Amino acid sequence: MIRLTDVVKTYENGTDALQGISFEIEDGEFVFLVGPSGSGKSTIIKLLTGEVIPTSGRVMVNGFSMSIIAERQIPLVRRTIGTIFQDFRLISSKTVFDNLALAMHAVGASRKEIQSRIPYVLELVGLSGVEQRYPDELSGGEQQRVAIARALVNNPSTIVADEPTGNLDPARSLEIMTLLERINALGATVIVVTHEKGLVDQFDKRVIMIENGAIVGDRVGSYEVKKNEA
Ligand SMILES: Nc1ncnc2c1ncn2[C@@H]1O[C@H](COP(=O)(O)OP(=O)(O)OP(=O)(O)O)[C@@H](O)[C@H]1O
Ligand SMILES: [Mg+2]
Repeated sequence: MIRLTDVVKTYENGTDALQGISFEIEDGEFVFLVGPSGSGKSTIIKLLTGEVIPTSGRVMVNGFSMSIIAERQIPLVRRTIGTIFQDFRLISSKTVFDNLALAMHAVGASRKEIQSRIPYVLELVGLSGVEQRYPDELSGGEQQRVAIARALVNNPSTIVADEPTGNLDPARSLEIMTLLERINALGATVIVVTHEKGLVDQFDKRVIMIENGAIVGDRVGSYEVKKNEA
């Protein structure tokens, strides 16, 4: 479970990114996080991964309190979370297999586990057989599927995706979102940051709206901001 309570984040340069936000996401939920550029969406994602520490308030992630967590415990939380970014972040000098294997090595998986898990996750994302290809031998949509496979490889309970379709055309974006929906149906909690209202409206999911570091809406379905909420 994820729970933010009265979270304030002021960056070192004085920017108030979050001004006291609270929400809870249950295990197994699918949530869109939407809002204008600079509203604080990526800051929320970084609070969940421990990349950013709250200035005040509490951040609970899968049983860990991120506000008081010791540095050496951060890898333990990160094992419960798979992350996906707009720019894929694959290592271009490594094959697809080695990109995925690296993520498994990092948590101490055995060779045998790596050999059996990688074909499984590639099949899950619809990319069976690309193990020996390099990222630049794949289309953008395929590279993002590899990045999703990498996020899944250590079987995390939670997937966070920050603008995962930002570099893809509408058809590819819909495929990626549908894949994330499927991963959610298999049991993972999924949190997706997106600017793409059209895409959000195609999925009947919970939408949390952020503006100027505050929550201005939290409901299921499309994200029309009503006057009394703005
Ligand atoms: N490391 C940082 N140091 C200082 N200010 C930062 C830092 N990271 C983000 N900010 C500021 O905090 C605010 C929120 O940024 P954040 O990246 O969370 O926005 P966002 O909603 O993800 O925007 P976008 O849609 O453009 O990605 C912005 O004003 C931004 O300039
Ligand atoms: Mg962002």
